[in-house]
Amino acid sequence: MNGLPPVASGSRGGNTPRAVPLFLTLEGIEGCGKSTQAARIAAHLRGKGTEIVVTREPGGTEVTAQIRSLLADPRSNLDPSAELLLFMADRAQHVASVILPALDSGKTVICDRYSDSTMAYQGYGRGHDLAWLEELNLFASRGVVPDLTLWIDCEVRVGLGRAKTRSGGPGDRFEAEPLAFHERIRNGFVALHSAHPERIVRIEGNAAEDAVTLACIAAVEAGLAAAAASPAAESGTGAGTESSAPARRAHPRR
Ligand SMILES: Nc1ncnc2c1ncn2[C@@H]1O[C@H](COP(=O)(O)OP(=O)(O)OP(=O)(O)O)[C@@H](O)[C@H]1O
Ligand SMILES: [Mg+2]
Repeated sequence: MNGLPPVASGSRGGNTPRAVPLFLTLEGIEGCGKSTQAARIAAHLRGKGTEIVVTREPGGTEVTAQIRSLLADPRSNLDPSAELLLFMADRAQHVASVILPALDSGKTVICDRYSDSTMAYQGYGRGHDLAWLEELNLFASRGVVPDLTLWIDCEVRVGLGRAKTRSGGPGDRFEAEPLAFHERIRNGFVALHSAHPERIVRIEGNAAEDAVTLACIAAVEAGLAAAAASPAAESGTGAGTESSAPARRAHPRR
């Protein structure tokens, strides 16, 4: 067992509890509520006995904290290609040292931003080629794709307003970008949602925190139920176990 809550699957002909670890990511524009909801979802799942690792990008490891500082610092006059490669270095280290080990030990991982942010920010925002970014994402992530992505969608002015209130100042390098940049990113998430409707769930993010939390938890519970009913679960393996790993690692490190 891996500490996850029992999920009734109806398989094996009895009431055998089925524990299914998930790789869950939260995505969306600045200030939409990702970090707030990551903590709340984690509290909900921990309350059910689930072992959770909550992490974030960039800067989800000790080593990459400095990459996060570089990327966030408004004084970093970063070339767009340098910015992209810093994010890729951050992800490679994060997947190798945090995400994969946690999934392989049966823990559920909640990650605050992941590869969809690369597509939205460096693709739709900065203009890097989308197909090439997908390749880079696969390389840096070792093909580790989220089971479920909650896209918290809110108006740009709402998100930026919240972020500004939170920071009490001009904010980080991304928050300082013009409105048009953030609109492109939001549109990017719209496109990603259309392209991956089986993985990405849109959550209404303009609502009050508690309403957003209810929607997030409903989506996570639905994701857990779907994972429990999947063929991997039927054969007695969770979504994050070695047996299901080929699905995640379809694009091994080159
Ligand atoms: N639904 C909400 N309604 C009002 N305020 C909110 C809501 N969700 C979060 N907040 C507040 O808005 C601010 C930004 O939220 P949070 O830090 O969770 O966003 P984020 O998406 O993680 O931002 P960033 O992209 O900058 O990391 C915080 O001060 C938080 O308390
Ligand atoms: Mg955050």
